[in-house]
Amino acid sequence: MNSIDSLLHESRRFPPSPEFVANAVATPALAAAAASDRLGFWGDQARELLHWHQPFTEVLDWSNPPFAKWFADGRLNVAYNCLDRHVLAGNGDRVALHWEGEPGDSRSLTYAELTAEVKKAANALAALGVVRGDRIALYLPVVPEAVIAMLAIARLGAIHSVVFGGFSADSLRARIDDAQAKLVITADGGWRKGKVFPLKATVDAAVEGTTVEHVLVVRRGENDVEWTEGRDLWWHEAVGTADAEHEAEAFESENPLFILYTSGTTGKPKGILHSSGGYLTQVAYTHKNVFDLHPETDVYWCTADVGWITGHSYVVYGPLANGATQVLYEGTPDTPHPGRWWELIEKYKVSIFYTAPTAIRSFMKLGREIPDAFDLSSIRVLGSVGEPINPEAWIWYREVIGGGHAPIVDTWWQTETGAIMVSPLPGITSLKPGSAQTPIPGIELAVVNDDGSPVEKGSGGLLVITQPWPSMARGIWGDNDRFIETYWEKFADAPGGPLYFAGDGARLDEDGDLWLLGRVDDVMNVSGHRLSTAEIESALVSHPIVAESAVVGAHDETTGQAVVAFVILRAEHAADHTPEQASAVLRGHVATSIGAIARPREIFIVAELPKTRSGKIMRRLLQDVAEGRAIGDTTTLADTSVMQIISDRMDAAG
Ligand code: WTA
Repeated sequence: MNSIDSLLHESRRFPPSPEFVANAVATPALAAAAASDRLGFWGDQARELLHWHQPFTEVLDWSNPPFAKWFADGRLNVAYNCLDRHVLAGNGDRVALHWEGEPGDSRSLTYAELTAEVKKAANALAALGVVRGDRIALYLPVVPEAVIAMLAIARLGAIHSVVFGGFSADSLRARIDDAQAKLVITADGGWRKGKVFPLKATVDAAVEGTTVEHVLVVRRGENDVEWTEGRDLWWHEAVGTADAEHEAEAFESENPLFILYTSGTTGKPKGILHSSGGYLTQVAYTHKNVFDLHPETDVYWCTADVGWITGHSYVVYGPLANGATQVLYEGTPDTPHPGRWWELIEKYKVSIFYTAPTAIRSFMKLGREIPDAFDLSSIRVLGSVGEPINPEAWIWYREVIGGGHAPIVDTWWQTETGAIMVSPLPGITSLKPGSAQTPIPGIELAVVNDDGSPVEKGSGGLLVITQPWPSMARGIWGDNDRFIETYWEKFADAPGGPLYFAGDGARLDEDGDLWLLGRVDDVMNVSGHRLSTAEIESALVSHPIVAESAVVGAHDETTGQAVVAFVILRAEHAADHTPEQASAVLRGHVATSIGAIARPREIFIVAELPKTRSGKIMRRLLQDVAEGRAIGDTTTLADTSVMQIISDRMDAAG
């Protein structure tokens, strides 16, 4: 496998094949239209992709920046757009969800069936007193009821706040309190790693003394639950007996759709607020064009949990607005066997697959024999999201999962942007492994210096978005000052400003393509040179003995910061090297790959890396270790024993 040799300086380009171009959804005409009249273009997208009960006359109102109004005098119903209109168009028999439970049970729902379920749920929620504007917290596994509940809430013009099922009772309570939620929808439990994990008990602990009036409980785990009469209701009773007819009311385009909490650099989580018409336009537009969706024939699968923004935009709203058929999987990738994901791709003939680099690297660690045992020939487009994808993982993804031909769309965006902002378009862009490349048509952004001036090609700086976009956050729930401070103040006075400060570093290469360099808080300054954690990690994982790595900048008396790396070796190589040998080899490798300036001061060989439940490496904790401090807050770690294991290993290494 030559292609999986050292790839740090991967310079191959992957243009789309002529067959792909011939059937591509996004064509150069799309980009031309957006370039000639940006707002007119978004207006056209909104009209083409959505049904408006009342058409809008104004595309954008930016009279009160940074609070945008898109399509403000139009009226629509988000759930109607995701459901009823597909049925009315004759596509009621198309499968919307192929749901697969972790223990192997499965359930497929057509658009007609999903519509009926959502109507019943909307009636049941209305009977509980839910009206437009109410906040409802969801704390659910990945089951069809999660999608049904979100759409039923949207149908009533109410606001959902989905809280990932791995969060603690305290985190759930904080989110319920912040949004003053009146209802919680949960399940008895869900399946994870071969066991039922309880959810209802956490909700019981979280809702005491809050604004919550009722708890609606989906039966899934069949585990025992405590019951508070008068407060708790079973979903199958409340929804099961509800009327299946429900007429969708049209709400104004700016009616809030959801709040989603995301962690900031400091302080309590921010409730990012999204609204209806602009959000739905951009998620539908990007889902269709970035993934080259052909809804009649494609089977799409995004592995994100509905508790994250990727689950909101690319499991629920984008795919359903586009009438796509998709796979929804409840469990973990390695249960009951490490090929579970690939087995699902084979079973459902998945053609578009969207996941995160961290998952790809874990599979690389296990070896290609596992995916190679399944028929993945249905795959035609691959997506990546959440962090920069290093060229080595990119090539592996294309070769092993994509059959050596599937285009990879590396999609950059954030909870705050609501939808994809930067990505190649698979029928147009000549792909560059490791680069997210270009803003999608209709999006205007720049890489700027600290004073807001654009950098030259070939240089790095801060990523900013220079023009408002339809799916942009409409604020932080209850704290608009914080919204302004966090994202808009830094470049408030820039020419053409205010600019949206994304918090990411980026570099423009000589072709003007964008390379994401990680959060600016992860950019190190070593002897006055800016180094990216992502770049050094990429160098480390390009070495054949390395499975995964995390790099932090640790305080250093002489150089300001020094590079400290934590590395997991590939299982088949771990035995061949002592930790000392491996670390010497890898320090040299980084020095030859990037330059001596990037050579890590220390490399610790570890068995695990601390990750959040969404799979992001918690560099902050590693930084604590690297700087010899007491380890900080570990409550968002997926596995809290990891930090102990790392500390023990470091103690052993002296
Ligand atoms: C990072 C996830 C590089 C980035 C959709 C951003 C990425 C943060 C990419 C948002 C990518 C996301 N390449 N970095 N393709 N996608 N990021 O809010 O640092 O969970 O600011 O949204 O993830 O994370 P969030």
